Amino acid sequence: MNQSSSVVVFVSGGKWCKGIYQGGGFGFAIGLVYNRAFYLCTHKALTKRSQGNVVIVFDQVQKSYQVGGRAIPALHPTSMTIDTGEVFGIVGHSGAGKSTLVRLINLLEPPTGGRILIDDENITGYNASELRAFRRKVGMIFQHFNLLSSKTVADNIAFPMKLAGIYSRTEIRDRVDELLKRVSLVDQANKYPSQLSGGQKQRVGIARALACRPTILLCDEATSALDPQTTQSVLKLLADINRELGLTIVLITHEMDVVRRVCDRVAVMDAGEVVEMGAVSDVFLHPKHPTTRDFVFESESIDHEEMQQDLQHAKGRILRLTFRGESTYTPLLGSVARESGVDFSILSGRIDHIKDTPYGQLTLSLVGGNLDTAMQAFEAADVHVEVLR
Ligand SMILES: Nc1ncnc2c1ncn2[C@@H]1O[C@H](COP(=O)(O)OP(=O)(O)OP(=O)(O)O)[C@@H](O)[C@H]1O
Ligand SMILES: [Mg+2]
Repeated sequence: MNQSSSVVVFVSGGKWCKGIYQGGGFGFAIGLVYNRAFYLCTHKALTKRSQGNVVIVFDQVQKSYQVGGRAIPALHPTSMTIDTGEVFGIVGHSGAGKSTLVRLINLLEPPTGGRILIDDENITGYNASELRAFRRKVGMIFQHFNLLSSKTVADNIAFPMKLAGIYSRTEIRDRVDELLKRVSLVDQANKYPSQLSGGQKQRVGIARALACRPTILLCDEATSALDPQTTQSVLKLLADINRELGLTIVLITHEMDVVRRVCDRVAVMDAGEVVEMGAVSDVFLHPKHPTTRDFVFESESIDHEEMQQDLQHAKGRILRLTFRGESTYTPLLGSVARESGVDFSILSGRIDHIKDTPYGQLTLSLVGGNLDTAMQAFEAADVHVEVLR
């Protein structure tokens, strides 16, 4: 039982803990820790929002840019769908084609091939007035905010409504007041962008993007210019907007941590291609493509080489266990150790959340006893088991 204090570090740190913890009774301790940490969020834990209808369809969409008379591909033929009301993340290194993909959704860039359907309509066939009406359905926010420096906060928010030419003065004034409240900037309404912090500027950007009541919000590196705390608050605002307004959000980032906090699904891009796509929990906990692995390891501050070296010193078989859902509430290791006679050492562990859902990952070395019995017991308890060695 003396291992329980070691394990508590996982909870207080919320990050990977590394080191070798020997013993037979720690299973019980881990169970207690999971019980305690996950109990705190039980009512939220398993309330995964069911996905609605498809709102965005990419059907073999491709994009090349003309450079020096040559067509340089930025997006290879890509087919994918985004559901109504989901937060869809796009992650990739610089130059992977993220902005290109997102700018195709509101036709800031026309595709060079394929079809884009929004709400079942092929937007690539729109004429100029259809395109103007369509663009009101799609708001966009940017890394560097793109505010008009000569206009006040209130006038920046009102700007797209005035430009649309279809709203009365009263409608515009009421909408601006409503949005100032939503983004908590009522006191800043008459300031100019130069008088605001980065987080406040991005809140203006969000309010402006929402002005014409869009159904889709595109975010191109919306938090990349912000410090971690401000990033948190902007992400929370986006999550609130998604939940309360049912807005579909497509969010570009180069940080897997941003994806983990707010997204439902994610596409990983590399060199103009979507190389991996799926539910964030699947992609984050079981990354397949090397680019995805790099992003996940980076977000967890894992030095892959160092980890491999540590594993070489461990004895026996090495397993990585992933706990999700009900399995996280079971004090499993102790009972499996007793049933199978296997001794465990904990090599590393992490406990955290993917959106509102808690998860835990443990890397263990197993010695003696009946390994098959242990593996079967983990799998029966719905724990995902990977054999690392
Ligand atoms: N207007 C353009 N003309 C020519 N090439 C372009 C243009 N815009 C983008 N590209 C090229 O297309 C590729 C993809 O660019 P894109 O801006 O989509 O990448 P990104 O993933 O958003 O990168 P970053 O993370 O740096 O913003 C890059 O090689 C880029 O140089
Ligand atoms: Mg970009």
